[in-house]
Amino acid sequence: MLWLRANRTPSNKSYSDCSGMSEDLKTLVGQAVCEYVLSGMRLGIGTGSTAEAFVHALAQKVNEGLEVVGVPTSERTAKLCKSLGIALTSLEETPELDLTIDGADEVDANLSLTKGGGGALLREKIVAAASKSMYVIADESKLVKYLGAFALPIEVNRFGLAATRIAIEKLANSFNLHGDIQLRRSVESIFETDGGHYILDASFGLIHDASALDSALLAIPGVVQHGLFINMADKVFVAGKDGVRILEREQ
Ligand code: A5P
Repeated sequence: MLWLRANRTPSNKSYSDCSGMSEDLKTLVGQAVCEYVLSGMRLGIGTGSTAEAFVHALAQKVNEGLEVVGVPTSERTAKLCKSLGIALTSLEETPELDLTIDGADEVDANLSLTKGGGGALLREKIVAAASKSMYVIADESKLVKYLGAFALPIEVNRFGLAATRIAIEKLANSFNLHGDIQLRRSVESIFETDGGHYILDASFGLIHDASALDSALLAIPGVVQHGLFINMADKVFVAGKDGVRILEREQ
């Protein structure tokens, strides 16, 4: 069950202009979650356009005197944080974090997530797992009944790619999931994650038992990690035309 904990209504924004709506919502939710960041916190900082809106809001607070230190979940996020003057650390130096704030590609009714559209899922999961809490920021378009409309990113070791792909296909069939599995490409070549791995985007369709699929995928030796985040998000901040509402996971 989802609980509606709070509503924040934008005081000075109009959403009548749909062309700018998405960016406005990202800014709004980035600012809303920033209110939960306290001085002294050790933060995990996510990846993607929504997480970047949060980074901009955080930078403003840092410039006003908020003292935090962050572990970025990608090289891209690290670069942005550095350019905006946000102090960074690593999980080696700071292995336990207070709060991770990150985006998502899908959020279901149990606050399970699909992540990895930006290719940072491995570091995102490691950082979130090292945090006491994970808050997710999204707009309403990310809310789904079941995960799977968004192709599931599966990070795989480059060694044995063809064998790993076959193993994933066989596993998916045993879950009655049938769909295309595409090797992710960037403009000119195969997409590589920050860890030097490849990503297979699996268009399985709706996943009814995400928890079972989670464990089964991880049992395939060539699978490094995948984009199902089960029981990790504590709160999801959802921006919509009426403001930001906060969904909480039942403990
Ligand atoms: C990055 O790898 C992803 O997990 C992102 O968090 C996710 O793709 C959301 O990105 P947007 O905020 O750009 O939609």
